[in-house]
Amino acid sequence: MAQHLSGPADLTGQVALITGGAGAMGRAISQAFRDAGATVVATDRAENEDIGPGIEYRQYDVTSIEQTDSVIDAVLAKHGKVDILVLCAGTIARSTLAESTDEEWQSLFDVNVMGVVHPARKLFPIMCEKGYGKILAAGSIAAKNGGVASGPAYVAAKSAVHGMVRWMAKAGAAHGVYANTLAPGPVETAMWASVTSGKPPSAAGSVPLGRYGQAEDIAQAALFLCSPASNWITGTSLDISGGMWMD
Ligand SMILES: NC(=O)c1ccc[n+]([C@@H]2O[C@H](COP(=O)([O-])OP(=O)(O)OC[C@H]3O[C@@H](n4cnc5c(N)ncnc54)[C@H](O)[C@@H]3O)[C@@H](O)[C@H]2O)c1
Repeated sequence: MAQHLSGPADLTGQVALITGGAGAMGRAISQAFRDAGATVVATDRAENEDIGPGIEYRQYDVTSIEQTDSVIDAVLAKHGKVDILVLCAGTIARSTLAESTDEEWQSLFDVNVMGVVHPARKLFPIMCEKGYGKILAAGSIAAKNGGVASGPAYVAAKSAVHGMVRWMAKAGAAHGVYANTLAPGPVETAMWASVTSGKPPSAAGSVPLGRYGQAEDIAQAALFLCSPASNWITGTSLDISGGMWMD
């Protein structure tokens, strides 16, 4: 049974693959992991993106099985391993149940659920074989409170992510493979702006800590959960919500 004791949040010598790496959170996480010593491969839909000095970028649409194979095979060929997989690619919709269409549900599940399944399905057995790996998925406070500004398709998709991560945590534990979920509250990114039409309610009235989140708040939590600092934590869903949700 692979066992790892906790230590400092140092990623020296580790290889991290990030999906949705051109988004606000994915970008901040990529940079925090680079600063902690990791070799970082950030991926997103666009052909070219500059994620920051020293960060490798690859185009990867997470809904594509073919691209999943080609990107991960290329990263393994170049770097020899993937120690850390962070799943940040996501899309949101705010339609109510009555307004929502099958196309919208399908699209949200394709990106938010299958976009987690595809890379995790390929890397999970490789990590288990190697005896170490950290998988971290962007879930949401929406999976716990029914949604802040999102509709039911997003709430259901993120709930599926939280459930799938628990399965991986259980199955991976004996092999030294960790799986956890981030459960952010509203973070001031393009996604939050899109569901609030750029006019969010005052944080003072809705967030106990008095402000909405920043991508850096998420990046530091991600560093903790993907580093040896959290080597006795798996299957957790970490609330990062300024106190909006507590469990
Ligand atoms: N911003 C928030 O308030 C908030 C709260 C809780 C959870 N989240 C989740 O955190 C994650 C990151 O969100 P963010 O706020 O940084 O959003 P963002 O919109 O800035 O980033 C999302 C990224 O995902 C990418 N993406 C979308 N579809 C893709 C696809 N098919 N293949 C590859 N990449 C794709 C986008 O291009 C974008 O760069 C998402 O999963 C989101 O659902 C966000």
